[in-house]
Amino acid sequence: MLERTRTPATAAWTPQKVRWVRHWTDHLFSLAIDRPEDFRFRSGEFVMIGLSAPGGAGKPVLRAYSIASPAWSDELEFFSIRVHDGALTSRLVHIQPGDEVLLGRKPTGTLVLDALAGGRRLYLIGTGTGLAPWLSVARDPETYARFDQVIVTHTVRQRVDLAYRDLFEAGLFDDPLVGEEARGRLTYYPTVTREAFERAGRITDHIRDARLFTALGLPPGFDAEHDRVMLCGSTAMIRETAALLEAAGLREGSNADPGHFVLERAFVG
Ligand SMILES: Cc1cc2nc3c(=O)[nH]c(=O)nc-3n(C[C@H](O)[C@H](O)[C@H](O)COP(=O)(O)OP(=O)(O)OC[C@H]3O[C@@H](n4cnc5c(N)ncnc54)[C@H](O)[C@@H]3O)c2cc1C
Ligand SMILES: NC(=O)c1ccc[n+]([C@@H]2O[C@H](COP(=O)([O-])OP(=O)(O)OC[C@H]3O[C@@H](n4cnc5c(N)ncnc54)[C@H](OP(=O)(O)O)[C@@H]3O)[C@@H](O)[C@H]2O)c1
Repeated sequence: MLERTRTPATAAWTPQKVRWVRHWTDHLFSLAIDRPEDFRFRSGEFVMIGLSAPGGAGKPVLRAYSIASPAWSDELEFFSIRVHDGALTSRLVHIQPGDEVLLGRKPTGTLVLDALAGGRRLYLIGTGTGLAPWLSVARDPETYARFDQVIVTHTVRQRVDLAYRDLFEAGLFDDPLVGEEARGRLTYYPTVTREAFERAGRITDHIRDARLFTALGLPPGFDAEHDRVMLCGSTAMIRETAALLEAAGLREGSNADPGHFVLERAFVG
């Protein structure tokens, strides 16, 4: 058990209990913590989470994390990388149910429906742990109220890195809140880059050579009138995909000025 934290009344975070932990591989894991009653967020936002300093003395270690659960959930779920010498994740990976995680008070972010203008199709394009915000957005009924079709793409190095594959291939369709809407309207499009797989290669290549659109039964390329896109993951993927979107006439949006696509790095690198 990690030790309990004394919270200063003015702290920007509160300690919350871990409910469950799931290890996908030795470098990918998920956890869920209690959601305080006064903690409000929009599906797709991120928040700071962390652990108290080793030994309890000194500043806590906090990092930005996308909230992977939808806005209606009574728990807060996170999908995490383990960086071997990482200040936070080298310790967070050992967390157990009943331990405490520090939760920031102010969720924020641009990967929210509010930052997109109206459209018909929503593409949620992620690499690695950049899948996390799509776990939130794809489980929110509001998403299906706003869009006819939702496409979640997940590009990873190896098949084992396709965490949550079962959710997108089966579990979500039995979800009491969004199952019915997701059936027939949600498409999961996993791609694997460093070993053989039925869909090999980077998502950027699947966009460029139109394999993505062909698989969806659509004409090649993005359509600025109907398509809306969210990007999360590696900086290089975001940069390349944003350039492809801009070339197709899509404009980046923000909370203050909704547009055709929004982006957020899941990490720097
Ligand atoms: C807006 C935002 C949202 C984020 N959401 C998530 C999330 O949902 N899940 C998550 O695991 N991380 C997320 N991160 C990254 C997270 O903040 C930390 O960097 C990560 O937890 C590692 O922390 P660390 O202290 O162990 O190592 P750090 O010192 O923070 O990172 C060391 C190095 O590891 C690499 N790295 C860090 N995070 C990742 C990652 N997620 N994927 C691949 N390489 C990485 C980078 O090269 C980085 O420089 C997010 C970051 C931002 C800015
Ligand atoms: N077994 C292990 O210990 C293990 C396994 C995996 C990762 N890791 C470590 O974890 C860290 C993060 O790895 P990660 O795999 O989560 O993140 P990542 O390196 O960003 O890769 C995630 C996926 O994004 C793809 N990608 C990268 N740049 C792209 C671009 N410009 N356009 C489109 N797609 C792009 C990658 O394809 P490419 O493969 O073509 O680059 C990969 O499939 C790394 O430091 C890594 O060493 C360790």
